[in-house]
Amino acid sequence: MDQITPGPGGERDFRAALAHYATGVTVVTARSDRGPIGITANSFTSVSLDPPLVLWCPARASARFPAFVAADRYAIHVLAADQLDLCRRFARAGEDFSGLAMTATPEGLPILPGCLARFDCTAEAVHEGGDHAILVGRVLRASVRKGEPLLFWDGRYGDFLHHD
Ligand SMILES: Cc1cc2nc3c(=O)[nH]c(=O)nc-3n(C[C@H](O)[C@H](O)[C@H](O)COP(=O)(O)O)c2cc1C
Repeated sequence: MDQITPGPGGERDFRAALAHYATGVTVVTARSDRGPIGITANSFTSVSLDPPLVLWCPARASARFPAFVAADRYAIHVLAADQLDLCRRFARAGEDFSGLAMTATPEGLPILPGCLARFDCTAEAVHEGGDHAILVGRVLRASVRKGEPLLFWDGRYGDFLHHD
């Protein structure tokens, strides 16, 4: 195996090594002073069943970082295989909800249509995480539907291969 030493000069290789880990893709939404905001994030992870906690990590370099760190609630949407357009849209722009049939949670969080699962959270903690922050959310409610996930690996998108 190739050895990679993270640190000065090794950032690109380190990023490439991390990209070997396949993930799903989420879009996190919240309300900001300027209206609804969203961000594509694959850093989503489950943390605890009792209490029900999850986490995700916004990058400090993102223009959307201050709004998400300040948000007292956010909704984490797990994207379905047919939602690559939403993934790309919210990787590009944080405030472009045009043309989407939007609804809202009882708390007023923006709901994206057609997602595989959604975790409505209150902000539980914000931890230091280097060039990212670690946002721990307490799940108020989870909504799910049947379907296939959008997957992300090595900078590429794909879908699930069944081995039944
Ligand atoms: C598949 C995928 C996963 C991503 N995951 C994260 C993430 O976990 N955290 C994050 O801060 N940005 C993530 N991004 C980048 C953001 O979606 C967005 O592109 C970035 O915030 C752009 O910065 P801006 O707000 O300055 O325009 C991801 C992008 C893609 C395409």
